[in-house]
Amino acid sequence: MNIREKYIDFFISKGHKQIPSAPVVPENDPSVLFNTAGMQPLIPYLMGESHPFGTRLCDYQKCIRTNDLDEVGDKTHHTFFEMLGNWSLGDYFKKESITWSFEFLTKHLNIPIERLAVTVFKGNDIVKADTESAEIWKSLGIPEDKIAFLGEDDNWWPNMELTGPCGPDTEIFYFRSKDEIPEKFDPEDDRWVEIWNNVFMQYSHNTDGTFSDLPRKNVDTGMGLERITAVLEGVDDNYKSSLWTNIIKTIEEVSNKKYEENEVSIRIIADHIRAAVFISADNSGIKPSNTDQGYILRRLIRRAIRHAKKLDIDINSDFDEKIALTIINEYKKYYSELETNKDVVLDVLKSEKVKFNKTLEKGLKEFEKMIKNIANNKLNKDLAFKLYDTYGFPIELTIELANERGIEVDVKGFREKFKAHQELSRTSSVGKFKGGLSGNSEIETKYHTATHLLNAALKVVVNKDVHQKGSNITDERMRFDFSCDHKLTDEEKKNVEDLVNKWIKEGLDVTKIEMSKEDAIKSGAECMFIEKYPDMVMVYKIGDVSKELCGGPHVKNTNELGHFKIVKEEASSSGVRRIKAILE
Ligand code: ALA
Repeated sequence: MNIREKYIDFFISKGHKQIPSAPVVPENDPSVLFNTAGMQPLIPYLMGESHPFGTRLCDYQKCIRTNDLDEVGDKTHHTFFEMLGNWSLGDYFKKESITWSFEFLTKHLNIPIERLAVTVFKGNDIVKADTESAEIWKSLGIPEDKIAFLGEDDNWWPNMELTGPCGPDTEIFYFRSKDEIPEKFDPEDDRWVEIWNNVFMQYSHNTDGTFSDLPRKNVDTGMGLERITAVLEGVDDNYKSSLWTNIIKTIEEVSNKKYEENEVSIRIIADHIRAAVFISADNSGIKPSNTDQGYILRRLIRRAIRHAKKLDIDINSDFDEKIALTIINEYKKYYSELETNKDVVLDVLKSEKVKFNKTLEKGLKEFEKMIKNIANNKLNKDLAFKLYDTYGFPIELTIELANERGIEVDVKGFREKFKAHQELSRTSSVGKFKGGLSGNSEIETKYHTATHLLNAALKVVVNKDVHQKGSNITDERMRFDFSCDHKLTDEEKKNVEDLVNKWIKEGLDVTKIEMSKEDAIKSGAECMFIEKYPDMVMVYKIGDVSKELCGGPHVKNTNELGHFKIVKEEASSSGVRRIKAILE
């Protein structure tokens, strides 16, 4: 049995329900480009909403972290990774959480207790030292010397700056070395690696800087699958664990090169193509572009191609497809969308490769020419911009190429020039790249309810068989994908708009009812992925016009919504149309 399964089985045996992995692109959280932790899709529930699956949850969640993209190439960094998580939503707290983590690690993963050490929070102005957690650890047999009290930089999650649910945590470390295990735990000694983080999430960090108590005390835990796998398999390079064996083997085959002699490039190709596969397999339909998630996808693919070229792989061959198919095969058992959207994934990789390949060779020659004529080992903004504009080099690629030769790039100048040339989309503003954890804002909640009204109106106006295929909400607009075989006529669009506005004016109450999944289906409630819901579900009703399975949150009455307007109707994919709409 593999670790994912062991983990889920264990927490199910402790009364948890397994929830499906959310898409890597957050559905209703515009504050981040990608889910960066297992808790991200659960923010509304950590903030107080009730979850349809109950109060004890567990899962493995697809995550993408892009802040360390340039570090990928070493032994430990990954862009895409899986996080094993278990949560208590106002249910159990420190005692059970710590005891179960300990039991899972020592009894189910058979880690000797001597190899474990922990950190706990030493206290600050908001909350006192977490002696309670320390006592629990001691009662389980962790000696005092293996318990370190650290400050908010180490034992507060996510950190003191980000807004949203947060709290002190206790982190579990494993001694990853053949050396003799020291009596005393030194968190600075990097032979100790962190393997699991248990956050006692009881505060909300508000946008005005204050901290308030959450309605309930929650537990949020996260354990990176890549790291725990490497630890258990006794390898000090994550890429040498069994998770990567077949992927690396395929890259060795297509390049005819050995991993040992080409570690950096092979890791980058493996990591970046794996992340690109997961991003493009997401139902959100991200395509390579120059903004937001699309830009990350573009950077990943282009950097992988550049490193493939370094390994003398024939870029025109189907090397990328071979690697992607290995990845899909490895993961489809856990993420069925990889199989379902296989053609989309292969197409994204191929078209981006063809696009980049047209200019890559010339761009590299141009770069070599440029650096022969530069002064003070500095590549100026005009040259960097030329590589971007004419040869499609993401600035990060130019920086990497330059750094390999000890050359500095005028990145600030480049960005200014870039801004002047390109109207950057508002959503790709710096804030979004910084990441952050926010609950649903008031306006997003309104859009959420408007989504249900739009879904219902389309059924009346267009066809009763229209079904939701996806949705994405920011605080500026809603986007709604639905099955439909034709472009909506102007009349249809107007009728949909009018009907939604009529319902808004009527001031319909939005009510929440808990019922069994069976009853919900019988009652005709609308639902996107019925198989992903538990036995008991939450159904939101809007007057008599809409009934949908949903986790919320929603407004109380439709009269809070304002005026609904469709700003765009376009094709999304075959048989799927997309509406962008706003509330004014
Ligand atoms: N949310 C916590 C983390 O990502 C568990 O470390």
